[in-house]
Amino acid sequence: MKSLFKTLGLVLIVLIVVSCAARVVNTVAHLEPVPTKAEVHTNFSTEQLAEGGALFSNNCDKCHKLFEPQSRDAEKWNHVLKRMIPRAKLNYEEGKLVRAYIIAHSE
Ligand code: HEC
Repeated sequence: MKSLFKTLGLVLIVLIVVSCAARVVNTVAHLEPVPTKAEVHTNFSTEQLAEGGALFSNNCDKCHKLFEPQSRDAEKWNHVLKRMIPRAKLNYEEGKLVRAYIIAHSE
């Protein structure tokens, strides 16, 4: 009986570690280099940036105030977005549009 609990405990720990690891590495902020403002304007259409803006204002004020894109530079934003894209439950494409919008209006 004791060893059954030990095994179950171990399985639970492995599951927790695996699910956390999977969650933190799969956003655009982890996988694609941080674009400059100029690159964002070249690579994204006005419509895509507007969509990113809508996703930003609809999803990023659920837990705190909406932080101004102007408040940080692209590198700092990317660092924050590694944590916030998963928190906002945005899929890969949505994360990409939000990052593009924020960088387009960053410091
Ligand atoms: C589920 C809740 C939740 C959602 C949704 C959320 N955040 Fe956050 N945010 C937090 C918490 C909690 C903190 C403070 C702890 C931390 O920094 O991890 C935070 C902190 C921040 C900070 C300050 C971090 C720093 O280190 O300066 C910024 C900027 C931010 N969030 C931006 C965003 C953006 C952009 C989005 C949308 C993509 C977003 N947040 C969505 C919970 C959330």
